[in-house]
Amino acid sequence: MNEVVSYELHDGIADVLIDNPPVNATSHAVRAGLDEAVRRFGGDADAKAMVVRCAGKTFVAGADIKEFGRPALPPPLPDVLKAIDHCDKPIVAAVHGTVLGGGFEVALACHYRVAAADARFGFPEVKLGLVPGAGGTQRGVRLAGLADTITLITEGKPISASKAEAMGLVDEVAQGDLVEAARAFARRLVAEGKGPRRAGDLPMPTDDPDLFDKARKSLGREMRGQEAPMKALEAIRLGYEMDFESALVREYEMCKEMIAAPQSRALRHIFAAEREVVKVPGLSADVAPRDIKRAGVIGLGVMGRGIVMAIAAAGIPVTAVAADADHLAAAQKAITKMLSSTVDKGRLKQDEMDRRLERIQWSVAIEDLADADLVIEAVTEDIAIKREVFAALGKATRPGTILASNTSFLDIEALAKASQRSEDTCGMHFFNPAHIMRLLENVRAAGTAPDVVATIMAFGKTIGKLPVLSGVCEGFIVNRMLSKRSREAFFLVEEGAAPAAIDNVLVDYGFPMGPLALGDLAGLDVQAAARASRKDSATARELRADFPEQLVAAGRLGQKTGSGWYSYDENRKASANEDTTRMIAAHAERHGLTLRDIGDQEVRERLLFAMVNEGAKILDEGVASRPQDIDVAMVNGLGWPAYTGGPMFWADQLGLDHVLRTIERFQDEQGAGYWTPSPLLVRLAEEGKGFYG
Ligand code: CAA
Repeated sequence: MNEVVSYELHDGIADVLIDNPPVNATSHAVRAGLDEAVRRFGGDADAKAMVVRCAGKTFVAGADIKEFGRPALPPPLPDVLKAIDHCDKPIVAAVHGTVLGGGFEVALACHYRVAAADARFGFPEVKLGLVPGAGGTQRGVRLAGLADTITLITEGKPISASKAEAMGLVDEVAQGDLVEAARAFARRLVAEGKGPRRAGDLPMPTDDPDLFDKARKSLGREMRGQEAPMKALEAIRLGYEMDFESALVREYEMCKEMIAAPQSRALRHIFAAEREVVKVPGLSADVAPRDIKRAGVIGLGVMGRGIVMAIAAAGIPVTAVAADADHLAAAQKAITKMLSSTVDKGRLKQDEMDRRLERIQWSVAIEDLADADLVIEAVTEDIAIKREVFAALGKATRPGTILASNTSFLDIEALAKASQRSEDTCGMHFFNPAHIMRLLENVRAAGTAPDVVATIMAFGKTIGKLPVLSGVCEGFIVNRMLSKRSREAFFLVEEGAAPAAIDNVLVDYGFPMGPLALGDLAGLDVQAAARASRKDSATARELRADFPEQLVAAGRLGQKTGSGWYSYDENRKASANEDTTRMIAAHAERHGLTLRDIGDQEVRERLLFAMVNEGAKILDEGVASRPQDIDVAMVNGLGWPAYTGGPMFWADQLGLDHVLRTIERFQDEQGAGYWTPSPLLVRLAEEGKGFYG
């Protein structure tokens, strides 16, 4: 056929093989080849049935994302699938790996589906800001019914082959060899005289407006701000409003409109950026990662426990070292309890929990880390204590063992010096809860060896994290940018913005919560301690905006004490707190401040542009080597809404000229100490460029 689609005849069965690495996406060559294959099959009198399958590790995993945004070369996928659908001899899809998006649609347009037992099926389009565009909504709903189709398409989560079979989306799950099973299936069809069975000929399931209403409500909550899930409901509904063929035409139009829309562009940017950040610029592919057969974690507080769980879950033996027997017992109890509760919820099998626990070797002796290949330090955030631990680790472990600190803002260079093994020392900053949060900020210090960088990036992926590389600076990427947002939030409170108004602006923008509610969640004592550690470098105004300290002094530490900026009921539901209003008024009076009305636009721009400007500085200083590192880190570490593309991508969409002018206005109003535009931002705005060129 062509270089990616081949056609062969075996015993009266046409064998069509798609071979388009890495994921067999429906690029132009695949569409053209498949189209030609169907035509050839139609005219091949010796071919009685056809099997469509893929080479490599997966069936077609979707449309070729790289082609989005470029003029689509014919034939479009819906036309190819129409040709498959209308073929008058039976076509069987033999699917394995990830059968996603356009790939799932190829399979659904085939008349029958045989799946490998470990195949996964899904419509991830909503995650790219899209709806299925090649019949997925219409064939899907006719085969699987309304409720399951709504879930499958609006949530975008994959399902197993057995579940797909139970839903009516798969005809047979192959027990042995997939290709053999699919050919046998095709031969049976021929022998039994069975022709094509088209999903489009099936009736629509009975309409159920309640199901749509319920879905609309839950999507409004769970996927707030995102356009695609609601559009997906509209696309499914097309089947009730028009005939099958017209619904396919409209569904494709909807998909094309969405490809051009800002949310999809932003989500596709994040998809590509997440794959880019794991590749470290300048790190040669020849640099082999070190072998990590056993890991160690020292310090078993909340973070250490989460890290131990993440490592054990990935199948890697881990030595967990606590300061003393009491801390060790507490950590053992806490980890066992967390795993048990996952088992109780049905999300983990008991035998897997047992295996994870068996992988953990408990100890109170640093010497027990002697056989570890990588040790992650997660002791108290105090540079003096960490220095001692690194000095001890430098002696207790053999040269070549990687020594990584989980610090969120302390100086890795100082720890490298203390360990006397700077080539082995680095940062691995996990986010709380460490066994759940995807982001891992790996930190390269000046002396960190290249193969250590390669190892921590690879190890991050092995334990299911999304590793981003940062250079050394206070707070690295995420916390450094976050600290500017927190500072601005406290200043806004001092100037008269109500806490709920501040938080609501960011929730409306798409963050899961605003800066003050986040302080309540993380603990105001933690925030006050972080402020205390930086007080020597703080300005008078930063010291004056001491709201965390005031709240802590009043015993209001946040959610954990039922009161902080907000009051919390027993279900941790927040409500306004009158004491907060009084605290702000008293603060203003004490310092002679005049409160003013502050509009939402000012709140939004000050909170978000403070981060964009800091991001530009981080980029300019080389702390992050690419804007992608910042966008991915902020989306996955701070909940910056992915559908805006992250701070740097979003700023580009606004236009850096506009961003710069606004920052310059804040500089005039608030003072250069807080709002000096990054030199990079100035340069790019002058050149009419964006962070992405
Ligand atoms: N188009 C183009 N390239 C793709 C791609 C796609 N749909 N999916 C993955 N790739 C590329 C990745 O960019 C990556 O490239 P590099 O090696 O150059 O970085 C490579 O394939 C491997 O991808 P991963 O690193 O993600 O590999 P993995 O094994 O971890 O995951 C996967 C494989 C599950 C298929 C994952 O890549 C994935 O989820 N892909 C996206 C699937 C998707 O969203 N499909 C729907 C597309 S939209 C659509 O289909 C709608 C329509 O009909 C119009």
